[in-house]
Amino acid sequence: MGEKLLNVGMIGYGFMGRAHSNAYRKVNNFFDLDYRPVLKAACARDKEKVGAFAKQWGYESIETDWRKLIERKDIDAVDICTPNNTHKEIALAAAKAGKMILCEKPLSMNAAEGEEMCRAVEAAQVPNMVWYNYRRVPAVTLAKELIDAGKLGKIFHFRAKFLQDWTISADLPQGGTALWRLDVNAAGSGVTGDLLAHCIDTAIWLNGSISKVTAMTETFIKQRQHNLTGKVEPVGIDDACAFLARFDNGSMATFESTRYARGHKARYVFEINGAHASIAWDLHDLHRMEYFDHKDEGTLRGWRSIHVTDGDHPYMKHWWVPGLQIGYEHTFVHQVADFLEGLAKGKPASPTFRDALETQKVCDAVLTSARSGKWEGVALMDDKVT
Ligand SMILES: NC(=O)c1ccc[n+]([C@@H]2O[C@H](COP(=O)([O-])OP(=O)(O)OC[C@H]3O[C@@H](n4cnc5c(N)ncnc54)[C@H](O)[C@@H]3O)[C@@H](O)[C@H]2O)c1
Repeated sequence: MGEKLLNVGMIGYGFMGRAHSNAYRKVNNFFDLDYRPVLKAACARDKEKVGAFAKQWGYESIETDWRKLIERKDIDAVDICTPNNTHKEIALAAAKAGKMILCEKPLSMNAAEGEEMCRAVEAAQVPNMVWYNYRRVPAVTLAKELIDAGKLGKIFHFRAKFLQDWTISADLPQGGTALWRLDVNAAGSGVTGDLLAHCIDTAIWLNGSISKVTAMTETFIKQRQHNLTGKVEPVGIDDACAFLARFDNGSMATFESTRYARGHKARYVFEINGAHASIAWDLHDLHRMEYFDHKDEGTLRGWRSIHVTDGDHPYMKHWWVPGLQIGYEHTFVHQVADFLEGLAKGKPASPTFRDALETQKVCDAVLTSARSGKWEGVALMDDKVT
């Protein structure tokens, strides 16, 4: 089959704009695919800055208004790498224009927006995906394969944490470039939508739907200067969040996230305990999977630390020789590869907007519970929303 070109329009040149551009550039070097992404246009509001980004990463052209980018006939796929408050408007316009959409997480500011977005892409029948990239860490994908193969047996527990420490200073402003995550009007929520959304996506993927939650949140610094207005304004995000959850399969879970855990930079860890075996994983050592199998011979029974780098481990045959590890950026390469393979096969890669909407619904229930002090149910997904 001949190679098909896929013209990408990238919106945003920040952290994720770079991570995705790197993935588009590398994917065909390491994966044999029918499709080849072309870095057609980069878009952001500052002409000079987006021009410099386009030059550095090899984009053919630039735009300073995302609406113009979406109108362009030579763009096949729109990649949304902008703050959360822009996702909905861009996605709705892109769906209307018949573009494929790759949207950064969280899908939206809240579940109501997410439903609108989901409805739009399904009505327009455009391929769509959300960048919950941690699914594509080989060790995490291996965990999925082992759970699906029944190796853990009945699951009793899931526990996850995502810890950071970068907002402890009261002098840190909120809003604008690099600090939009602290501004509730740009982010929608704090650690719940930013960090726990990753943990929830992984949890649902590995262990099925979450039915109800009870949560507490805290905002430790109540006011911060706003970068855009210059005024001291109330802080509307959750600085920390902890919640309990029940899954449909009867298992129970604890989740915790904060940006006030001194010493932790991006400490995403999870552990899952089943009747026969347990799995633990830590982003700081992402190529390792800790595994305990109760079937092991009694005197030798213990936690194994598996270096997930062999050719028969997920994704690893595409990289180097066994024993040599890969890292954070490769998760995005894997996600692009799966998206392109999905296009070729006509089978969408997950998580789709619909999958990501489920995470959004759990986030909403968590924030509602933190306000009500009660257990809150996670609304069931409607049928196909077309
Ligand atoms: N998958 C992950 O692990 C992961 C990691 C970080 C961020 N994210 C998500 O990616 C998105 C972007 O985050 P980031 O860290 O890259 O942010 P960033 O602040 O580094 O970059 C944001 C970019 O958006 C641009 N932008 C803002 N408003 C715009 C507009 N109206 N039109 C065009 N461009 C606009 C900015 O110029 C900037 O280039 C967020 O939704 C965030 O939650 C996901």
